[in-house]
Amino acid sequence: MSYNLLKGKRGIIFGALDENSIAWKTAERVHEEGGTFVLTNAPIAMRMGQIKELAEKTGSEIIPADATNLEDLENLVAKSMEILGGKIDFVLHSIGMSVNVRKGNHYTNQNYDFTHKGWDVSAVSFHKVMQVLYKNDAMSEWGSIVALSYMAAQRVFPDYNDMADNKAYLESIARSFGYFFGKDKKVRVNTISQSPTPTTAGQGVKGFDGFIAYADKMSPLGNATALDCANYTVAMFSDLTRRVTLQNLYNDGGFSNMGVSAEVMEAFVKEQ
Ligand SMILES: NC(=O)c1ccc[n+]([C@@H]2O[C@H](COP(=O)([O-])OP(=O)(O)OC[C@H]3O[C@@H](n4cnc5c(N)ncnc54)[C@H](O)[C@@H]3O)[C@@H](O)[C@H]2O)c1
Repeated sequence: MSYNLLKGKRGIIFGALDENSIAWKTAERVHEEGGTFVLTNAPIAMRMGQIKELAEKTGSEIIPADATNLEDLENLVAKSMEILGGKIDFVLHSIGMSVNVRKGNHYTNQNYDFTHKGWDVSAVSFHKVMQVLYKNDAMSEWGSIVALSYMAAQRVFPDYNDMADNKAYLESIARSFGYFFGKDKKVRVNTISQSPTPTTAGQGVKGFDGFIAYADKMSPLGNATALDCANYTVAMFSDLTRRVTLQNLYNDGGFSNMGVSAEVMEAFVKEQ
């Protein structure tokens, strides 16, 4: 289903690693809706064979950039405007990584060098991306910037580890920078808080299978898929959402407002 919602719009999409990535699905949907974009990912994380496939399919170029490195980001923004032929209308920040999670460190036993690295990659990189765009006046008026978050920013999910803190910081950056981007450049900035989704980053979380099944049973509409997230992001990039800004938007089948569901109650009662 395509509505040409992004016809003539230009953007940058961070974080497509493989076909399960939320950014991958978003790139496919943005392409279907008529948008053009540059794909980017960290040089060390990039699975060149796979991202090339996406680039070919969507007629995009790839510019490697470590989102924590300002020089890389300057180069990315300048080259993107050159390739796309003008200012940027939309940006997707779809980046997350915790070294503590990767190394199996419990939340109560952090290695703070790892904590710092994960915070820089998962949260501060969003500020860096926006600062480079802002200083270079690279965004078009009524442009839209989206980063992806998770509800562990508001509620406790013990195994989400230091990523919970990183997401809280990320959402705060969206509001704080969103104010200046709105006032000075008429650009909107939001986070989309997505259901657990089976991707490389998602499956890195301990107990992910239980996590995703529980969320699905709790949500009246079931978990939002990566494709659902891509569709919501397309709507946020389109002209139909021009005055939505500084928001953390839940795309979670209703999970965030649930207390308990019949299915979860049933499982619990059976256990007794
Ligand atoms: N999967 C889930 O359950 C879920 C739920 C809610 C939110 N999210 C968020 O969605 C976003 C996308 O994750 P995903 O689930 O598609 O997983 P993914 O593993 O496919 O994507 C994460 C991406 O971050 C990139 N990245 C890591 N370090 C980087 C760096 N220094 N510079 C640039 N890119 C870097 C990786 O290369 C990868 O492409 C993340 O912010 C994640 O936290 C995921």
